[in-house]
Amino acid sequence: MTEAALNVAVLGAGRMGQQLVQVIEEATDCQLAGVWSRNADTDLAALLAGADVAIDFTLPEATKEIAGVAAEQRAPLVCGVTGIGQEAEAAIAAATRHIALLVEGNMSRGIAVMSRLLRQAAVALGPAFKAEIRETHHRDKKDAPSGTAIALREALGDESINIDSRREGEVVGEHLVRFVSAGESIEIAHSVSNRRVFAEGALAAARWLVEQPPGLYRMTDIWS
Ligand SMILES: NC(=O)c1ccc[n+]([C@@H]2O[C@H](COP(=O)([O-])OP(=O)(O)OC[C@H]3O[C@@H](n4cnc5c(N)ncnc54)[C@H](OP(=O)(O)O)[C@@H]3O)[C@@H](O)[C@H]2O)c1
Repeated sequence: MTEAALNVAVLGAGRMGQQLVQVIEEATDCQLAGVWSRNADTDLAALLAGADVAIDFTLPEATKEIAGVAAEQRAPLVCGVTGIGQEAEAAIAAATRHIALLVEGNMSRGIAVMSRLLRQAAVALGPAFKAEIRETHHRDKKDAPSGTAIALREALGDESINIDSRREGEVVGEHLVRFVSAGESIEIAHSVSNRRVFAEGALAAARWLVEQPPGLYRMTDIWS
């Protein structure tokens, strides 16, 4: 471990938090500042005060508090939580006055590229093609539609697009966008088979975020 290793706090100790800890421990340029979750005996403010950057993979009820404490402690924050409500969104907006904060419902490189492709496809295909979105995730996923599906709909620029949400078995994440006209159809799809993809994306975001001034960022700012 070098002296300049990035000191990363992990918030949340569930499926994603555990995967992230593993990725940090394997990275030669990072070290684990600590893990905070509901059951952990860790003080959030103290953890963030000693960290270079924090990554939030908790659940929406914790994100409002996390954004406020990160702003107080001037800790850049990567937020991967999906389904956050208006209060957490307001806390994030307020925090961006003080810290660099990246919010993204899907940290994979593939989804960043897919968003870009969808924007191009929607413009090129025009109004004769109607888009529909289907997302499939594991049965334990709490929010529906997925944050990724909502972000893809935003990329398509049409809030009326229907999202078909399915919850099946152990599926890590599948997103399919289908453009249909009277006589043809085109599909753009993305699938993740391993959560490590999201953890590696979140750590890439953290490395990038520590160099940025206060503000709100997305993965497309990194992987454009
Ligand atoms: N951005 C992405 O690329 C991406 C990828 C996958 C998932 N996600 C999202 O990331 C989030 C976490 O997913 P997951 O599958 O890891 O969920 P999970 O397995 O349910 O883990 C959530 C963790 O957050 C902790 N937590 C929940 N509420 C808390 C609170 N009020 N205070 C402190 N800790 C709290 C839980 O603690 P307890 O164990 O004590 O309940 C648990 O450790 C979800 O919103 C999911 O949709 C994002």
